[in-house]
Amino acid sequence: MSGINYSEKIPNNVNLSEDRTLQRALEHWQPNYLQWWNDMGPDGSQNFDVYLRTAVSVDPQGWAQFGHVKMPDYRWGIFLNPGEQDRKIHFGDHIGEAAWQDVPGEHRANLRRIIVTQGDTEPASVEQQRHLGLTAPSQYDLRNLFQVNVEEGRHLWAMVYLLHKYFGKDGREEAEGLLERNSGNADNPRILQAFNEKTPDWLSFFMFTYFTDRDGKFQLCALAESAFDPLARTTKFMLTEEAHHMFVGESGVSRTIQRTVDVMNQLKTDDVAKLRAAGVIDLPTIQRYINFHFSVTIDLFGADQSSNAATFYSSGLKGRYEEGKRTDDHVLKGNSYKILSVEDGKLVEKEVPMLNALNEVLRDDYITDSKGGIERWNRVIEKAGIPFKLTAPHKAFHRNIGSLSGAKITPEGRVVSEAEWNAKVGEWLPTNEDRAYVASLMGRVVEPGKFANWIAPPVMGINRQPVDFDYVRFN
Ligand SMILES: [Fe+2]
Ligand SMILES: [Fe+2]
Repeated sequence: MSGINYSEKIPNNVNLSEDRTLQRALEHWQPNYLQWWNDMGPDGSQNFDVYLRTAVSVDPQGWAQFGHVKMPDYRWGIFLNPGEQDRKIHFGDHIGEAAWQDVPGEHRANLRRIIVTQGDTEPASVEQQRHLGLTAPSQYDLRNLFQVNVEEGRHLWAMVYLLHKYFGKDGREEAEGLLERNSGNADNPRILQAFNEKTPDWLSFFMFTYFTDRDGKFQLCALAESAFDPLARTTKFMLTEEAHHMFVGESGVSRTIQRTVDVMNQLKTDDVAKLRAAGVIDLPTIQRYINFHFSVTIDLFGADQSSNAATFYSSGLKGRYEEGKRTDDHVLKGNSYKILSVEDGKLVEKEVPMLNALNEVLRDDYITDSKGGIERWNRVIEKAGIPFKLTAPHKAFHRNIGSLSGAKITPEGRVVSEAEWNAKVGEWLPTNEDRAYVASLMGRVVEPGKFANWIAPPVMGINRQPVDFDYVRFN
């Protein structure tokens, strides 16, 4: 691998060609990455030419260059947003001090853990999605899947860059570990549970990119505030790409709903059996998928009370969502926050120190943001004149972390007995039958401009190309 032209092979704005140590680390890691992409990346896609955007710089002209490329030849670049002159730490105990250009010894272990946890989610989602290309509902959707996949690969590169550049031998070992853990692997799973779940069908994929990539957005926003400047600058650039992932999810669910309500109106029915016979996904099933992905995703924010969250904030490693726009003292000592727990069979609010509740603060910001898309989905249903409303489940529903873990609570927020939960859970979460039905709809549609029966075409194509553009050349 020596003699490789890094500026060409790995577009970057970190002076890669002048940093021998970093180059050597990457020379060692890159072939392992490609091997991982071959083994665990998009199934059967190695020879396709895909209409992808590639980032070759961070400016408006460079961050999204479109063209057909073979995915193993995708140029996974390393980009940091430009540094801010004299940037100061703007929250926590070090507020007002200069931001760190290197890792302070006392925060090394925590920063490494934060970067590894973020980095682990990126290849995990590629693994979760690796078989979806075989059942893509259109070329347009197939291209969007692959775009998300290569960018999650780039996000892995972004975290590996930080590990190699700032964490020495430990960092190199962690970078190897990121390729060794695998989603759902019994012996060596990914770190966070939602990233070990299957993404078995395209409705799950759209829900995942709407809800779970949005978790990514909130984590990245919190890290974009970090006192560790290279982490802040890296995550800021990752956020520009994340927007497309959430668009894929939101528009994918929206088009699924569009097709369903069109058929409901054609057949003048809301009968689930009739709609399934017509090959579309009934709205109650879509609601159950929302309930599942919403609840699994909000667990990703961690326990509602966490001393780690307090430490990460006070030491300046991880801020709040839009920290800079908030008007409090950005130190938060003595502030409190309300969290939920179950007492005597009822959900009750209790006040706890805000510093310990910062996971909950971020979760609540996430919940507000994620409800916006559900409202936009409802407008599709409303426009079709159908009296049905999708909702986000209560945040206590189906939780597996923190004080609500394992509590039996309905999507409306009512505490119920184990017996009632077991009797009704099939109305609240996707059943095996729902999943089998959705799976039965998944078939590969590859002609340009054609779409599977269960989903409506998009309003417009990618990068102002027509909807029937040849987004993927199969060769
Ligand atoms: Fe990502
Ligand atoms: Fe993403």
